[in-house]
Amino acid sequence: MHDDVEKVLIDEGVIEKRLDVIAERILEDFCDHEFVVVVILKGALVFTADLLRRMPIPLEIECINVASYHGATESSGRVDFLDSKLPEVKGRSVLLVDDILDTGRTLAAVGQKLCEHGATMVKSCVLLSKEKERAAEVEANHVGFHIGDEFVVGYGLDFRGLYRNLPYIGVLKKKVIGNSV
Ligand code: IMP
Ligand code: MG
Repeated sequence: MHDDVEKVLIDEGVIEKRLDVIAERILEDFCDHEFVVVVILKGALVFTADLLRRMPIPLEIECINVASYHGATESSGRVDFLDSKLPEVKGRSVLLVDDILDTGRTLAAVGQKLCEHGATMVKSCVLLSKEKERAAEVEANHVGFHIGDEFVVGYGLDFRGLYRNLPYIGVLKKKVIGNSV
């Protein structure tokens, strides 16, 4: 698996240190308010697991399944909600967690959906934010790292369902992406 990686963009140790900081900031942001964590599957799974273990408070975790990439390295432009039922967020404050902010469509669509379902406050957190123009006007309240506009994998992020278990954020070799398209 590591042989398929062209370069490591953010290594494990750097991610871990940054999570300490973000976890603390999120807790400050909610000012001792109770909140429910909504994880956008599957990409945010690894990040959220590590982030929440840095938050020593009682909290609930809910998951939401959406798809926008459909196996390619470019967003399809459509956000599909894959669950038949959304998490119960009526009257609650929500921390929405995703792996990466790219076009912004996912975070915008999910945030809007949660508000429509009665969430009183939605704060968002992403591990990565790509520096680019967004298709949807949205920014995250908390960002782990700002990166350039390139396709990355690891620490939850996938290419065609693979590489989520890389412990760092990396860029795949061109031949790996080329071979499987
Ligand atoms: P957006 O809706 O375009 O902001 O895209 C968000 C979703 O696209 C993320 O939740 C990821 O699942 C996926 N995505 C965007 N960029 C990348 C990438 O560089 N690598 C892997 N997945 C990505
Ligand atoms: Mg995702």
